[in-house]
Amino acid sequence: MADVLPMNNLAISDTVEQAEFSQRVLIRSILTRPDGGAGLAGKTLKVGGWVKKGREQGKGSFAFLELNDGSCPANLQLIIYSDVAPLSQFTPTGTCLHVEGVLQMPPEDKQGKQSIELKVSKVLDIGPADPGKYPLPKTRLTLEFLRDYVHLRPRTNTISAIARIRNALAYATHTFFQKHGFLYVHTPIITTSDCEGAGEMFQVTTLINEAEKNEKELLKNPPPSQEDVDLAKSLVKEKGEIVAKLKADKAGKPCITAAVVELTKAKESLAKVEERFNMKPGIPKKKDGKVDYSQDFFARQAFLTVSGQLQVESFACALSSVYTFGPTFRAENSHTSRHLAEFWMVEPEIAFADIEDDMKCAEAYVRFMCQWLLDNCYDDMEFMVEKFDKNAIKRLQMVASTNFVRLSYTEAVTILEEAVVKGHKFENKVEWGIDLASEHEKYLTEIKYESPVIVYNYPKGIKAFYMKLNPDKKTVAAMDVLVPKVGELIGGSQREENYEIIKERILEMGLPLEPYEWYLDLRRYGTVKHSGFGLGFERMILFATGIDNIRDVIPFPRFPGRADL
Ligand code: 4AD
Ligand code: MG
Repeated sequence: MADVLPMNNLAISDTVEQAEFSQRVLIRSILTRPDGGAGLAGKTLKVGGWVKKGREQGKGSFAFLELNDGSCPANLQLIIYSDVAPLSQFTPTGTCLHVEGVLQMPPEDKQGKQSIELKVSKVLDIGPADPGKYPLPKTRLTLEFLRDYVHLRPRTNTISAIARIRNALAYATHTFFQKHGFLYVHTPIITTSDCEGAGEMFQVTTLINEAEKNEKELLKNPPPSQEDVDLAKSLVKEKGEIVAKLKADKAGKPCITAAVVELTKAKESLAKVEERFNMKPGIPKKKDGKVDYSQDFFARQAFLTVSGQLQVESFACALSSVYTFGPTFRAENSHTSRHLAEFWMVEPEIAFADIEDDMKCAEAYVRFMCQWLLDNCYDDMEFMVEKFDKNAIKRLQMVASTNFVRLSYTEAVTILEEAVVKGHKFENKVEWGIDLASEHEKYLTEIKYESPVIVYNYPKGIKAFYMKLNPDKKTVAAMDVLVPKVGELIGGSQREENYEIIKERILEMGLPLEPYEWYLDLRRYGTVKHSGFGLGFERMILFATGIDNIRDVIPFPRFPGRADL
């Protein structure tokens, strides 16, 4: 049985965390002990990992290797003597090693950063990496360069630290919602309703590959001509007449049966000829020239979801507190450092809850995640502070411990207008009715308040149809959580639960009613006051780490022009 010890909270004992289902000890369990692993000197164990840096020393009599297995940011130093195996195969960056050895204290004058090293006694496995060809040499590489190697970049310090932080935030998310009695619901990825009504959806269709297949097939086997069809028809006629004549002549049964078999064959052959004759290259069209989606895979138009909200609402309107957490897709042609075409969203939905409850939940969730990273990923956060953003830890501490500022949209606009009067320059005009631009969000969160800000009660014209109309009829009960560095982290609202009003809003926005009929049923039958929000998971990682570009905090970024792997 493995010793499973809490992350980064190892008591000083001589037990180490054995990786489950794998023949090695996690490097984390050696190096993140309060004594840096010193107390484990003398222990024999196996480790596995990839060489970050290797150098031969003592005129080639031994080599130092820095080994990383992804369990923590730190590398374990290995020392290997040439009598164990020839050294040059171990030193190239990128080499994979599985070794057995004895932990020992490095000689005092060589201790440097290392409080423990592993003296290798046996090499169990080696996965060599040709230094002349390995694309990620040990020199510091830019994040932009690494985007060309999404399959290898997890081996870098930065991407692996982000991966651990991302994992921790996913765990924190489930912990938070489960702890508060929310039920995890898997909403569909393929959908026929446009949640945001913004028309930024990727279409899911097999019409194009079907059309290509048809075209290829028609080239290989040209379609029959009109004469071929006429010939097949006349054959059917001829065989029919034979059957009729045989019957009229009261011929014997075996004779008639044989003629009917002939007739059936002729009919089948005609059907085949006609089917191929009617095969048209290209996408099937209806008489009015529009695409005939009844011939598509789902017999209707379908898309990748932009949000699981509408579907998760149907579970909230039965199970009360629910959340969905999955990939969402937006075909917006945004090239910014805050937008992806495929991103992950956490969407809680709470029945019997108004916008106040919604804001409380959003704030508690974000603060919980910040505290979680401080408690569980401190070493990775220290790495972020050293390499990317000296304020990253301070920011987490600040957010975990302070109440978010709350402003109505109208108050926010007034504050921005006051800033203009005082001489602050914005590129985008400030007036009631605008959608806040990122410079406005930055001003509020980074200059005016230096804190997360929740802006609520937005003009209805700039928000989605499902948001609850306020009594002023001009604003909706929407709320956005804005944070320093990132801007909009969360978008949410109280939902319109009144059947007549929401129907009116759908029409007002120029949306078709038909795809939303099921959604209207939630208001027709047993309607309930309810609220929810969506947190952009990658934006949370940007906020936590201080990384500049959203393409570097998702394992496989998809954005206009790129979908590698
Ligand atoms: O504000 P949005 O569009 O809200 C919704 O989709 C609601 N249906 C959510 C709900 O109420 N259940 O998106 C929510 C969040 C944004 O605040 C932002 O953090 C993130 O999703 N987001 C993106 N993240 C990365 N790339 C994009 N293209 C994003 N678009 C939105
Ligand atoms: Mg939004």
